[in-house]
Amino acid sequence: MIRAMSDAAPSRRNCGVLQIEPTDFCNLTCPMCHPQQGFRPTLHGDLLKGYMDTALFKKIIDGMAASDVCFDHVIFQWLGDPSLHPELFDMVGYALDHIGDRADYFRVDTNAILLTPDRVEQLIEAYSRHPLTPVLVVFSLDSITRETYKVVKGRDYYDTVMDNVHHFLERRGELDLPSINLNAEFQFVLQAGNAHEARRFVDYWDEYCARGRNGVGYNDIMVKRLSVGTGGEKQHAADRIYQDTITKFGLEPFSKDHIHLKLWMERAWEEHDDPEATVTDLDLGDTGLAKPDLRA
Ligand SMILES: C[S@@+](CC[C@H](N)C(=O)[O-])C[C@H]1O[C@@H](n2cnc3c(N)ncnc32)[C@H](O)[C@@H]1O
Ligand code: SF4
Repeated sequence: MIRAMSDAAPSRRNCGVLQIEPTDFCNLTCPMCHPQQGFRPTLHGDLLKGYMDTALFKKIIDGMAASDVCFDHVIFQWLGDPSLHPELFDMVGYALDHIGDRADYFRVDTNAILLTPDRVEQLIEAYSRHPLTPVLVVFSLDSITRETYKVVKGRDYYDTVMDNVHHFLERRGELDLPSINLNAEFQFVLQAGNAHEARRFVDYWDEYCARGRNGVGYNDIMVKRLSVGTGGEKQHAADRIYQDTITKFGLEPFSKDHIHLKLWMERAWEEHDDPEATVTDLDLGDTGLAKPDLRA
């Protein structure tokens, strides 16, 4: 599925964001992720979950290339994990080849389970054809220990994911280019099940990227707010956990040569917030796990 979102701000931001969903399937059911609970066959109306046809994708990109359309950025993800699409990096490469000059950067968000060394080579091959075009890979990690990974991601893939992310950084460090624009974001959606690890997560990636050439390119750590369905008391509870954790660990945004720390101090959903809401479509319960627990 492809959707374009408009954006009222000036410059290229005027062009909006092009969001491409290579697939709405996922190999995780993170308890926080409402769409992936319940193994639903459809996430977009009546349309069965599926994989975008690469030929159709290329036709759409060709159409864009033939027009004068531009975007703030192009993002490959929506409700599933894009890495499940076997031709993901063909798609990214094709977009870089044909509309690479139409967006400020290209972005892929993934849980990294399938970002194996051979897929990293595919990504590097696509990126290296246009090394000045920024490509941002967002790693949705949300934990820095195996125990917590299992709680907030629902399955035991911590070691695989850490190996894959480490490999990506090391392989990127080997690139012999005057300027590296293959960028990384380490994402942590702060919630009850992982709040105790927020400082450790920040310190880990700060120290890891400071070593050798692990921090070439642009890198950031994003400590993101948990969004809880319709707002109301559960959203306020999640917001309190966020604020209390930031305060408890004295986390403040920083910018270093090798990495930046970003916090989400604003509440993006404020304008839609219903202070009277008592229900939410995502019940995280006292344990921080969605109900029913589907991991068994
Ligand atoms: C739905 S996922 C799809 C892409 C990919 N599977 C991933 O996890 O990065 C997109 C983003 O939504 C975030 N997300 C999922 N549930 C969330 C929630 N309840 N609150 C805030 N962010 C959430 C994930 O951390 C991820 O960054
Ligand atoms: S990996 Fe992404 S899409 Fe999959 S369940 Fe987790 S947050 Fe949702």
